Amino acid sequence: LHVAVLMGGWSAEREVSLTSGRGVAAALDKLGHRVVAIDMERDVATKLSLAAPDVVFNALHGTPGEDGSIQGLLDIMGLPYTHSGLTTSVIAIDKELTKQQLVPHGIRMPQGKVVESETLYAGDPLPRPYVLKPVNEGSSVGVAIVSDESNYGNPISRDAEGPWKHFDKLLAEPFIRGRELTTAVIGGADGKALAVTELKIDSGFYDYEHKYTDGITTHVCPAEIPEDVAAACLAMAEEAHRLLGCKGCSRSDFRWDDEKGVEGLYLLEVNTQPGMTPLSLVPEQARYVGMSYEALVQRLVEEALK
Ligand code: DAL
Ligand code: MG
Repeated sequence: LHVAVLMGGWSAEREVSLTSGRGVAAALDKLGHRVVAIDMERDVATKLSLAAPDVVFNALHGTPGEDGSIQGLLDIMGLPYTHSGLTTSVIAIDKELTKQQLVPHGIRMPQGKVVESETLYAGDPLPRPYVLKPVNEGSSVGVAIVSDESNYGNPISRDAEGPWKHFDKLLAEPFIRGRELTTAVIGGADGKALAVTELKIDSGFYDYEHKYTDGITTHVCPAEIPEDVAAACLAMAEEAHRLLGCKGCSRSDFRWDDEKGVEGLYLLEVNTQPGMTPLSLVPEQARYVGMSYEALVQRLVEEALK
């Protein structure tokens, strides 16, 4: 097949996407496909027209590769592409819209609140500790944990560095103590969960640095957690994938308050363009179920052509 790999772009996750894209392109090449790698800039439509691929492998993260924009363009151009379609992408990139979609179906998610960043200087939107995050960024870009120990001030001071400086609208969520878990799902409406991975770090939280620096985060796959909690992760990830209409692959991220048993499991978000870097979680879970990186890439291409 002739495959165009879309990567890069101008989101905060540009570098991550370039790493994902290079990995995917190398795998496609090894699989015997004809590959053209396209760094997504404003002329992406022209480049795609000239390349005229059979299928597009979307290795973009963030805006506009994960938010429905590129999906709309590819729909208009009549090009099949990997991962989720337009409507799913629009909803899943927005952590608040995702909640509105999933919580009524019984998926447990933290009860958050969308706040204007200006209002934070007047007082806390929730009792501390809470998490502040942009509604539509990935890789923990712009995430801050506001606790009594954090030195942002009380109320948050105008001089403090945090997401309130760069984003007008933020999501405030109660901080869930405990552990960080994630589950990938592969396939369409009947997508199957692969495994549960626990992310273990020595200090701080699972932020951008911990996500992309080799050796500072331990991935435990399969996670050493009670069977009912693992089963709940797999079931919730599959259900969220189905309810949002995800295609190809998604990765659901959880917090688990291990003092509360299975009732302490919360879905934080669903990623429709999860990382495909060598340190990324989806390729790792695929390996755990016996699927090589190349086989995973091939599967995603096949799903795109279904
Ligand atoms: N947003 C990053 C790429 C991830 O979900 O893996
Ligand atoms: Mg994310």
